[in-house]
Amino acid sequence: MFMLLIANWKMNFSPVEAVRNFKKFSKLAPQKTSLVIAVPQIALANIAEAKASSQTPLQVAAQNFNFHPNGAYTGEVGIEQINGLADYALIGHSERRIYAYETDKDCARKVAAALSVKIHPILCVGETAHDRDRGQAELVVRAQVAAGLAGVASNRLAEVVVAYEPVWAISGFGSAKIAKPADAAKMLAVVRDEIKVLFGGEKSKQVQILYGGSVNPDNAATYVLKSKADGLLVGNASLNVYSFRDILDKMELLR
Ligand code: PGA
Repeated sequence: MFMLLIANWKMNFSPVEAVRNFKKFSKLAPQKTSLVIAVPQIALANIAEAKASSQTPLQVAAQNFNFHPNGAYTGEVGIEQINGLADYALIGHSERRIYAYETDKDCARKVAAALSVKIHPILCVGETAHDRDRGQAELVVRAQVAAGLAGVASNRLAEVVVAYEPVWAISGFGSAKIAKPADAAKMLAVVRDEIKVLFGGEKSKQVQILYGGSVNPDNAATYVLKSKADGLLVGNASLNVYSFRDILDKMELLR
């Protein structure tokens, strides 16, 4: 299985800028890594068009969607509307759990909705600084994994990605600390173990488990090596093609 390197552009770039950036990223030529770009919702259609007309190795992710297929949900973008535009979708990113009050139940419904249209769900989990200070990190993350994957049939597990991102290490929250690779390793093992508890040892190996949170070209390889991550989810350092390329180069050297 190829390692996954996911860029999360968050709420940056106009559609025109996003397409321009996507074209720059399209020139990256990974040999052993699958690249996914989580683009702003408003640029999804433009990016899909750009992708169709190029030979890019990039795949596209939505950063969010509504689990209802369509209907009276003003301002929302439904799963049917992104169907055909995205290969993957982020679900339960901590910025959505915190700013948009997304619950574990919402995440489970989104995972099911994504699978229903063959979009790979990327379930994001991670404890807050408060959870960690109270010694609850493992409990919280196990609960998020169990709730988010509750509706997944074991024969669809290989389509699912889980990203562990400690909330306190995500650069966008401003107060970000860098997670020690040993801490990341411990928590990725917890995620892996919870999936094993839920689906059994053999099946659990099919899920790609990523690390995210202040990943940059200097720490990327260490996170992957120490935590045995199947890839990385990168925010800030993915906005610029050069820093993203440097992360990719480090990953390509690993296997
Ligand atoms: P960061 O973001 O790399 O800027 O910390 C990661 C994420 O939010 O997915």
